[in-house]
Amino acid sequence: MTLSQPVRYSADLEEIKPDEQEVISDLNETFDVILNRTAEDYGHAVRSVHAKSHGILDGSLTVADGLSPEFAQGLFAAPGSYKVYLRLSTNAGDILPDAISLPRGLAMKVVGVEGDRIEGAEGSTQDFVMVNGPVFQTADAKKFQGNLKMLAKTTDRMEGTKKVLSSVLQTVNSALETVGIESSVVQSMGGAPNIDPLGETYFSVTPFRYGDYVAKFRLKPVSQGLVELTGREIDTSVSDNAIRETVQAEMRDTAGEWLLQVQLCRDLEKQPVEDPTVEWKEEEAPFTTVATVKAAPQDSWSDENVRKVDDEMRFSVWTGLAAHRPLGNINRARKDTYEHSSQFRAAFNRCPMHEPRD
Ligand code: HEM
Repeated sequence: MTLSQPVRYSADLEEIKPDEQEVISDLNETFDVILNRTAEDYGHAVRSVHAKSHGILDGSLTVADGLSPEFAQGLFAAPGSYKVYLRLSTNAGDILPDAISLPRGLAMKVVGVEGDRIEGAEGSTQDFVMVNGPVFQTADAKKFQGNLKMLAKTTDRMEGTKKVLSSVLQTVNSALETVGIESSVVQSMGGAPNIDPLGETYFSVTPFRYGDYVAKFRLKPVSQGLVELTGREIDTSVSDNAIRETVQAEMRDTAGEWLLQVQLCRDLEKQPVEDPTVEWKEEEAPFTTVATVKAAPQDSWSDENVRKVDDEMRFSVWTGLAAHRPLGNINRARKDTYEHSSQFRAAFNRCPMHEPRD
């Protein structure tokens, strides 16, 4: 099949809705309930979603040599190597026992990146925030907020526990069923229970500016040690933190290697910018490797990295280069909400967030 030419980036690819600021305020209000509740329970503030971390890794990202001009854009414009931090998580806003099965997240911070920044982006880092499925569960932030709000109300009344209030996406399945939507979308997000996060492929789900073009990203395991873990179930009956303990044992002698791949938008109908419930099909928009990420065997739960990354760092798609500006309604809603959650953590824990330097 001959591929269409990639769509060129322009600001008018985005369609901004009149009520977006209002939705963002509502989201922050709902997140406040979660943030306050969990901080009160733990005596320590945690992220309002993806609160539980299964591992923190130090590694490196190397941009591929000889990329063709359409892929040699932004961070990937020239060959080079960078330090990275990776944080593996599960998407509830609560620190839950691992026996509760949930989709996984992977956040990556690339350190020492030069170039024009997105307005307001601190430091010199480029963040990637991904989950282990190719689509998001709602087309826009308003629908996401609708579910979140309903969830907060009804589940609190029914079950009356912190678990329900703070588990934003954890119970999204039942939330969707309550409003009559099949949970297949959530299943397709990789909802399979207790799969080893080291073997998973992670997707940006939402699109980004890719220099002159528009792209989605994914991070795919390729080293034998990681590929062997793909789909492997972890026995979570042995410990509430079985996933973290398994990852720690595995990373002691596993050399992790992933491919960072890019999928260029080639047709705005088939690969829409504003709706991340639509998967960009590989046949029509294939993935191309633009960098390799490596993590040597290490302690994936060291006190130092847990403090530095889990507590004192924030990952946001809005921290990075103007050349990789987040696009679409869901991404626009993430700017203030991520900032809000991390500011709450910083204030409650009396420790400012840090952007690491090279
Ligand atoms: C309207 C949509 C969304 C909202 C309101 C939202 C909100 C948030 C917030 C408030 C945080 C915590 C930030 C912090 O305290 O540092 C967070 C973290 C996270 N979100 Fe989202 N999010 C949205 C969409 C998405 C999407 C589409 C993805 C999939 C790629 C995603 C994946 C993650 C992950 C992996 C983390 C954890 C990051 C880390 O390790 O620090 N979110 N989200």
